[in-house]
Amino acid sequence: MLEIQGIKKSFGGVEAIKGSNFIIEKNKITALIGPNGAGKTTLFDIIAGFTRPDEGRVLYEGEDITDKEPHIIANLGISRTFQQVRLFKNLTIGDHLSMVENNGDMNLIKNIFRKKKVKRVKQETYEQVLEDFGIKQTLETHINDLSFGQRKLLQIAMALQKPHKLLMLDEPVAGVNKVIQTEIENLLLKLKEKNETILLIDHDIELVHRLADHVIALDAGIVICEGAPNEVLKNPKVLEAYLGE
Ligand SMILES: Nc1ncnc2c1ncn2[C@@H]1O[C@H](COP(=O)(O)OP(=O)(O)OP(=O)(O)O)[C@@H](O)[C@H]1O
Ligand SMILES: [Mg+2]
Repeated sequence: MLEIQGIKKSFGGVEAIKGSNFIIEKNKITALIGPNGAGKTTLFDIIAGFTRPDEGRVLYEGEDITDKEPHIIANLGISRTFQQVRLFKNLTIGDHLSMVENNGDMNLIKNIFRKKKVKRVKQETYEQVLEDFGIKQTLETHINDLSFGQRKLLQIAMALQKPHKLLMLDEPVAGVNKVIQTEIENLLLKLKEKNETILLIDHDIELVHRLADHVIALDAGIVICEGAPNEVLKNPKVLEAYLGE
């Protein structure tokens, strides 16, 4: 489904990615693990078109998407969440779901930001999304009034609601309480049953063990090991990279 070929990326003097190659297989959960600063988020940003690599290519279903804009890549079916939650604090849950639904409709987006009343064609679908995600608030609730965990849930809901073939989640359970963590994990297990193709970044090794079909370990911008979870997670190089943090 996705192929990373010889990707390199430096930020000033920092070589964040030093020549990575790997494949993301369809209908599998692939986990990208590695210590802080390993380059995981940078790879996500490169795949999603938010960062241009210095060298290398990203192939998606055989097509070179390396130089495409983020919204084009999103429309091709790559949906993502961000490590730092990116939502508009003064807008409502419903506003966010409408914007996802009508991706690229500038008039609708302008009206939402001008606080004009926007007709929600799929009001019931949105209510269902909230129910599915265990978000108890109404569609009119402002992002300001949501907890950090609920914001993360909403971000995942938005990524899922967009028509997609590949879902990329950057630390979906980091920083949320145990209850929401379990909710998110259960949700991911359901997605796994549905054969979704997912690229997951997470530091929680136990979670990776329970969810992933394939694990890619990154350290200092290089893939140090990849394979089945129980092999990778006990590999001495991987253990050293984590313990050496
Ligand atoms: N926009 C940027 N400008 C400068 N340096 C950057 C930028 N983005 C990332 N870096 C650097 O690139 C390296 C890799 O960062 P990245 O965020 O990809 O790591 P990560 O594996 O996602 O880490 P974490 O687990 O902490 O999220 C780090 O040294 C980071 O400081
Ligand atoms: Mg990161």
